[in-house]
Amino acid sequence: MKRIFFNEVVTRDGFQMEPEFVSTDAKIALIDELSACGYAKIEATSFTSAKAIPMLRDAEEVMGRIRRVPGVDYAVLVPNLRGAERALESRADELNLVMSASESHNQANLRMSRAQSFSALTEVITVVNGRAAVDVSISTAFGCPMEGDVPAEEVIGLAQRFADLGVRGVAVCDTTGMAHPAQVAAMCESLQQRLPSGLQLTLHFHNTRGMGLANVLAAVQGGIVRFDGSLGELGGCPYAPGASGNIASEDAIHMLEAMGYDTGIDLERLLAVARKLPDIVGHDVPAQVSKAGPLWQLHQVVCQPA
Ligand code: COA
Ligand code: ZN
Repeated sequence: MKRIFFNEVVTRDGFQMEPEFVSTDAKIALIDELSACGYAKIEATSFTSAKAIPMLRDAEEVMGRIRRVPGVDYAVLVPNLRGAERALESRADELNLVMSASESHNQANLRMSRAQSFSALTEVITVVNGRAAVDVSISTAFGCPMEGDVPAEEVIGLAQRFADLGVRGVAVCDTTGMAHPAQVAAMCESLQQRLPSGLQLTLHFHNTRGMGLANVLAAVQGGIVRFDGSLGELGGCPYAPGASGNIASEDAIHMLEAMGYDTGIDLERLLAVARKLPDIVGHDVPAQVSKAGPLWQLHQVVCQPA
């Protein structure tokens, strides 16, 4: 059975976009429950500016109070050196550095040019100096909501430059759900052909146009084994026009388990956590399997009235 590794990003990508602040206690309780579900990694929060991302202004407290389960990597998103210092102080296992493949989204999201971001992140990698793992998320890698097409060459070139700096992995992110399966298949092939084989490749999809799980399937069939997902299908970048939820972790995991892949996740346990999510965020969530039940959960025969 082929092993697929999931990184749960609901408390970062998911909550950064929520209209109402999710309490620190609720975030911590949720991460602790997710820690027991079998994830390889949990991206717990981000060390960003509280003005840019007010929903995650409690990052220190969250990282300080979660119960860390051995075998789970606790990652945090980091946009600059100040974020990296805070992340190291919080004993994050992984710093997930972020910049965009497109100039407009980098400016909107990070208030820097791509060149400024690359040089700031280069400095971060030097400062981290092996004290935590470093991955890089490349946003708008399959298209930019302001510029349109983003050349795959741009993405692969950027990933190569980070690989040269010694990062552990690169996440190729479809920030606003513009990727389609044929594009994903081509991208996966190029990434694996052109980048060093030791570089961990993660795919990060949003379901903004309903292509999320089709894209996961294209990537899995193209040899990718690492995915980001967000419980409930929450998520989105507040500085990407039209952004909406990531692929729902539980729906993607359910699909892959049904197909015979081993995700390492206790799906029943995860679905029980997912069913609490509407109460945590105060609204219904789009994900489906927590409502329908997994396909192996059968129903009683219902007879028509005589
Ligand atoms: N953590 C906390 N505070 C930070 C910070 C960080 N990583 N980086 C900057 N700040 C603070 C500065 O100390 C300064 O505070 P002050 O106003 O009290 O003096 C303020 O933020 C502005 O600093 P500056 O360096 O001018 O940053 P900026 O306003 O140009 O913002 C970013 C740049 C990158 C910090 C900000 O755009 C950001 O946090 N973006 C993240 C966006 C994101 O997470 N998007 C979703 C994920 S893709
Ligand atoms: Zn995202």
